[in-house]
Amino acid sequence: MNTKEILDQLTLEEKAALCSGRDFWKTKAIERLGIESVMMCDGPHGLRKQEGEGDHLGINESIPTVCYPSASALASSFDRDVMKKLGKALGRECQAEHVGMLLGPGMNIKRSPLCGRNFEYFSEDPLVAGEMGAAYIQALQSEGVAACVKHFACNNQETMRMAGSSQVDERTLHEIYLPAFETAVKKGKTRGIMAAYNAVNGEFCSENKTLLTDILRDEWGYDGMVVTDWGAVKNRAVGVAAGLDLEMPGGPTATGEELVKAVKEGTLSEEALDRAAGSVLQFILTAMQNQRDEMIDREACRNLSEELSAECAVLLKNDGALPLSESSRVAFIGEFAKMPRYQGGGSSHINVPHAVGAVEAAEEKDVIYTRGYDVHSETSDPALVEEAIEAARSAQAAVIFAGLPDAYETEGADREHMRIPENQNELIKAVAAVNPKTIVVLHGGSVMELPWLDKVSAVLLMHLGGEQVGKAAVELLYGEKNPSGHLAETWPARLEDNPSYLNFPGEEGVVTYAEGIYVGYRYYDKKKMTVTFPFGHGLSYTTFTYENLQVDKESLTDQESLTVRVDVKNTGKYAGKAVVQLYVSDRESTVRRPIRELRDFAKVALEPGEVKTVSFTLDKRAFAYYEPKCSDWFVESGEFEIGIGDSSRNIVLSQTVRVEGTTLLSFTITETTTIGQLMKHPKGSLFVRQMMGSSAMASSDMSSSMGEGTEKALQKMVLEIPIGAMVSYGRMTAEQLKALIDSLNS
Ligand code: BGC
Repeated sequence: MNTKEILDQLTLEEKAALCSGRDFWKTKAIERLGIESVMMCDGPHGLRKQEGEGDHLGINESIPTVCYPSASALASSFDRDVMKKLGKALGRECQAEHVGMLLGPGMNIKRSPLCGRNFEYFSEDPLVAGEMGAAYIQALQSEGVAACVKHFACNNQETMRMAGSSQVDERTLHEIYLPAFETAVKKGKTRGIMAAYNAVNGEFCSENKTLLTDILRDEWGYDGMVVTDWGAVKNRAVGVAAGLDLEMPGGPTATGEELVKAVKEGTLSEEALDRAAGSVLQFILTAMQNQRDEMIDREACRNLSEELSAECAVLLKNDGALPLSESSRVAFIGEFAKMPRYQGGGSSHINVPHAVGAVEAAEEKDVIYTRGYDVHSETSDPALVEEAIEAARSAQAAVIFAGLPDAYETEGADREHMRIPENQNELIKAVAAVNPKTIVVLHGGSVMELPWLDKVSAVLLMHLGGEQVGKAAVELLYGEKNPSGHLAETWPARLEDNPSYLNFPGEEGVVTYAEGIYVGYRYYDKKKMTVTFPFGHGLSYTTFTYENLQVDKESLTDQESLTVRVDVKNTGKYAGKAVVQLYVSDRESTVRRPIRELRDFAKVALEPGEVKTVSFTLDKRAFAYYEPKCSDWFVESGEFEIGIGDSSRNIVLSQTVRVEGTTLLSFTITETTTIGQLMKHPKGSLFVRQMMGSSAMASSDMSSSMGEGTEKALQKMVLEIPIGAMVSYGRMTAEQLKALIDSLNS
């Protein structure tokens, strides 16, 4: 039986009941029709299947499993294949555990470094978040398990996360906060989406018709299931009418009674209830159809976790201290060297029997270990520091494993600052003072302040790199693998430099996204600010050059696509992977636009001396901005620069193309329309040119007596004059003005 046939056999009460869960993790079964109950579980970087009492805070036990790098790490790989490998592995594990939906990935944009859940999110850039998410979703779903992208939408902080409202203007919503979800729907074909706890522009996401129906279903064509975040439901009937399908968690009291009542009273249409029940049914039927038994090879999963962890690591700084030599004695310092921080806290927290630290992984090497600091304290312990100094003195290199402790970042609470504990800072400075080859390995899910950066030789960011992170760190430190990650998030010099700083976390639950589209590098680059590390930055043990940038056309319309090719060459001694980044800049624009925006990227593996050609295809969206006047993407005709680089601040090749927009903005002319605005109107510009031609203000007599600067200033002044003023200046009568306006508007 298909969904429609089953729906026809359900009573009103059964349909309503189906729209909420049976318990914490499962949908309801309808035994008389053979409809099974399907399990959903948290992830998304490992399976959090709870067999005992359920909770959504990471408190109660879940089954033992393998932990992979978290989203902020994964995004730094800039590698869609990394996401595919992970998606497939998790899909198989879900099948083995009879889980029909994995609750992830988290697609929210990193608006502030303080968001406590940044480790669960990919990037400050919507393209990176969308592309990485889509690759993961496709792979997970190719194993027959549904993804559930979350948290839709504008869930960018933990303060007031269940009750606050994110106030975001239309352009910013479409350019920054929605595209990753859009890509998850259109490209990833996600079968699940989770409505966030918070409100957007005053309407809770689980009741927000603009988000759940107008944009998600009507504009993007989504036909999967919309689930509430756990406990996000406010008014069930309003939610279902707005486009919500399943309320989670469920339980014995979740009967759907209020939905039945609303239908009977006529405040909720039966059609809307049918849509919601139909989506849930469709999800269950697909899960039942796809379900299969699977055996999991844990050893292979652990190896995969190690492989991915190494792919995600970012070499932030290296003055030549890395890679380490096998023949050197090295001091490993810091508690994280033994017990690394490898995953975040909250609903994604999984049960890992054994995580591998760097000390264990380096057993066969000439490594001495000393504790350095107490991870549960912020105060230096002089004895530990002294021991560390001794060890560093006796070794040829000192590697300090530092970063953010568990208490510093977790779901449910925002960070208070961007610092690592002061005792770690002091330790690093003390060690760097005695050993010129001091290297810092950082663990953490978000950006940090590094007050000792100029005192150390190298910094390797391992993120929350999963349970094998220690092994991956050792392989990278000793050059058995070559770091190839790049930052998917800018590291600002100070928290105060972040564009959301003045408006985070808002007041009394209302947070205004006043910085608009200027999020992350879009802001720092526009303001030419000094940052610790720019977006896209990442070093390697080898070097790459970019040559031969080619475009298949120099001018095109926004209906055509543009192919861009570039050669990338490994010019160093090590095999390595380059992250080729393509940015587009609008050379001249009448609306505010960032200096450049990332429009595509590719990760390329190259042997020493090897050259590969990378090809990108750009379409209208690469050149467009979101124009609220037409509620659509809009290309303003003009020149655009295609830039190829290895960070947003290092564009090494560029090429200009001309793109013609094929749509016109409707433009109503009134008495307050300025001459400058009229110039942008096809008929208006002709009129202005005629008028200016005969105008005394533009006469050659006048301009010849002025300097160039004054003439320019005068022209600018003229452009600011409203056409209505032509009547007061005696240049036309009120009747002539009216006739002109009518004819231009016709
Ligand atoms: C979190 C979700 C999670 C859900 C179920 C919520 O508190 O926001 O990300 O999937 O709990 O655990």
